[in-house]
Amino acid sequence: MKTRITELFGIQHPIIQGGMHFVGFAELAAAVSNAGGLGIITGLTQRTPEDLAKEIARCNDMTEKPFGVNLTFLPVVAAPDYPGYVKAIIDGGVKVVETAGNNPQKWLPPLQEAGIKVIHKCTSVRHALKAETIGVDAMSIDGFECGGHPGEDDVPNMILLPRAQETLKVPFVASGGMADARSLVAALAMGAEGMNMGTRFMATKEAPIHDNVKQAIVAASELDTRLVMRPLRNTERVLTNAGVERLLEKERTLGSAITFADIAPEVAGLYPRIMLEGQMDIGAWSCGMVAGLINDIPTCRELIDRIMADAEVLIRDRLEGMLAA
Ligand SMILES: Cc1cc2nc3c(=O)[nH]c(=O)nc-3n(C[C@H](O)[C@H](O)[C@H](O)COP(=O)(O)O)c2cc1C
Repeated sequence: MKTRITELFGIQHPIIQGGMHFVGFAELAAAVSNAGGLGIITGLTQRTPEDLAKEIARCNDMTEKPFGVNLTFLPVVAAPDYPGYVKAIIDGGVKVVETAGNNPQKWLPPLQEAGIKVIHKCTSVRHALKAETIGVDAMSIDGFECGGHPGEDDVPNMILLPRAQETLKVPFVASGGMADARSLVAALAMGAEGMNMGTRFMATKEAPIHDNVKQAIVAASELDTRLVMRPLRNTERVLTNAGVERLLEKERTLGSAITFADIAPEVAGLYPRIMLEGQMDIGAWSCGMVAGLINDIPTCRELIDRIMADAEVLIRDRLEGMLAA
């Protein structure tokens, strides 16, 4: 399939694996890229720019295909060494950067002057338009369904994607709730040029995370995610568990008086214990409603091949067939 996104990134299929904290290691990024999609290493999971440089080198050893690095701009007091991370990305010969979390304007000149394409992920049309104005190459439009941070507007992709199409000139992919060929074809119909998946890629053989996490996704239904940290205007969609229910109880009890310190035990610094050790009840980890559509743990190649084969059948038989009738 050829779209403006496959052309822009030099990839075979219009499928991107979004950056994911303590999931987006070189193993997953390389597997997605080797299967013809665009794999993405999560920059800030690497503790220092030197560690990121090593992770990029590992990925380069595992694939000849283009891959990207996610740079998330966090609402934290002590900012990570972003100049160092940007240098590691440029020096590592990375082709694509996925930015998220905040306006990436400051980092566009060094990245784009190095020939790197920037895809910015955001959750509203007004932020997408702003990103287009400052010169990003593409957008990833993240609907309310998404795993992770859906923003505070709560607009699902059935509305957000057509609104993006009406507004944007740069190509965009649909993100949030994407799992299979039905997602891809629907996203294309709504103006997207491809799709970005997070949760679906966690439940793959190559995702270098504990099997407990993959099994939890397979077992979950679309009713099993919760929104946490809404009172702090830092909403995150996570899979429910004992720690998350404890956190929500604190939010109910403390109301608008709640502070980050109150919930830190259930949200701060837990990812290594969840993703690497499989401790499933300690607190919040991002997961999309799309868990309800995930019932197996294929390889990335099996997943992507299946999506592309099924998409062809959907378009040629189901849709074309309806017209013929
Ligand atoms: C476990 C997990 C961790 C994530 N971490 C990040 C992150 O560090 N930076 C980021 O920009 N997006 C992050 N995301 C969001 C994904 O890149 C992607 O936008 C989202 O998962 C899409 O929704 P889906 O899960 O319904 O496919 C994360 C998502 C998950 C599930």
